[in-house]
Amino acid sequence: MEMKRNTTKLLWLLMFFDIVSFSYEKSMRERAIELMQDARLIDGHNDFALRLRILYQNMLSRVNLRELNMTHTNLAKLQAGYVGAQFWSVYVLCSAQNKDAVRLTLEQIDVVKRMCNSYEELELVTTSQGISDSIRIACLIGIEGGHSIDSSLATLRMYYDLGVRYMTLTHTCNTPWSESSSKGIHNFYPSVTGLTAFGQEVVKEMNRLGMLIDLSHTSYFTAKAALSISKAPVIFSHSSAFSICNHSRNVPDDILQQLKKNKGIIMVTFNADVLACGRKVVNVSTLADHFDHIKKIAGSESIGIGGDYDGVKRFPEGLEDVSKYPTLIEELLRRGWTGTELKGVLRENFLRVFREVENVRLKTKLNLDSY
Ligand SMILES: *[C@@H]1O[C@H](CO)[C@@H](O)[C@H](O)[C@H]1NC(C)=O
Ligand SMILES: *[C@@H]1O[C@H](CO)[C@@H](O)[C@H](O)[C@H]1NC(C)=O
Ligand SMILES: *[C@@H]1O[C@H](CO)[C@@H](O)[C@H](O)[C@H]1NC(C)=O
Ligand SMILES: [Zn+2]
Repeated sequence: MEMKRNTTKLLWLLMFFDIVSFSYEKSMRERAIELMQDARLIDGHNDFALRLRILYQNMLSRVNLRELNMTHTNLAKLQAGYVGAQFWSVYVLCSAQNKDAVRLTLEQIDVVKRMCNSYEELELVTTSQGISDSIRIACLIGIEGGHSIDSSLATLRMYYDLGVRYMTLTHTCNTPWSESSSKGIHNFYPSVTGLTAFGQEVVKEMNRLGMLIDLSHTSYFTAKAALSISKAPVIFSHSSAFSICNHSRNVPDDILQQLKKNKGIIMVTFNADVLACGRKVVNVSTLADHFDHIKKIAGSESIGIGGDYDGVKRFPEGLEDVSKYPTLIEELLRRGWTGTELKGVLRENFLRVFREVENVRLKTKLNLDSY
């Protein structure tokens, strides 16, 4: 009898702890969701448009974007992930440089526009106000790689007119005017270091247009040069911290400090290879270590999110598709990040940068001979 009572007591105790720890878990998740409902994510980089080309030759009638599941991205998952705005990358391969890169870029812009105009869940926007006003998933367009302009400022301007709002200065190849962080993948222009004189003109023209300068994929010297020339804050649309994983795609601490002074942001990427440098287990803790480090060096106001879904194969465990962003926010809450810091990371920091880029726009006059 005595023993039975003790066992019952023990059972009750166990259940009590179970309930307490369960409700603690639940409340962290709930807090994450509440924050995200309030500050829907603006994600800096998604390569879904490239999947549309590879899988469907850009023929949208062949696919239902609400439910396809050969990709990391579909509309239901974006909604489940509390994504409020997405920069769709209009990426074309470096092998198209000096060939059909401009046509291919135009075709990718076209498919993003058709996608965003044909689903009521989506809406194409081109301004910070457009993002703020949208109750749908706001679509923005970013070019990934300076090879897309074919060394022509006129082409850059026409991309702006078509709605492009950022350009990554390089992808994995040098252009005639900018150096990539990737070495030995392509053979283009091996003697280019940082930005050439024309490369500096590109940065100035982007400032004048109000196009965000994206430094992901660029070399150390390209990033340093762009940060010192740009009159507006810059972004890294999908990069992480070099101190945590010394991958050439990541940003070293001195550049993070320069980024803080510039008031720009690094939109931390979820690409497992860039996060973990070959370590076997890659999970939300690995990702959160990058966030903690960048916060220590540059402050939470210098941070955003750029998942790179559908751009790479491997993501951390538990973060396999665009519905999983709340898992990250939950982990950062557990690590003591405040609601205000996290709303910045999700949305406000990017909006601040975009507004400032818009303010700098047209402060300098068009050079009539600019070409
Ligand atoms: C998505 O995946 C599920 C199960 O994995 C499958 O039953 C369903 O048919 C798939 N839907 C589409 C649109 O491919
Ligand atoms: C990263 O660190 C490893 C081990 O210290 C080293 O062998 C490698 O060269 C480093 N890579 C870069 C890009 O610095
Ligand atoms: C992530 O993996 C590490 C190493 O295996 C482990 O210690 C940690 O608990 C994991 N974190 C989560 C949130 O699963
Ligand atoms: Zn990329």
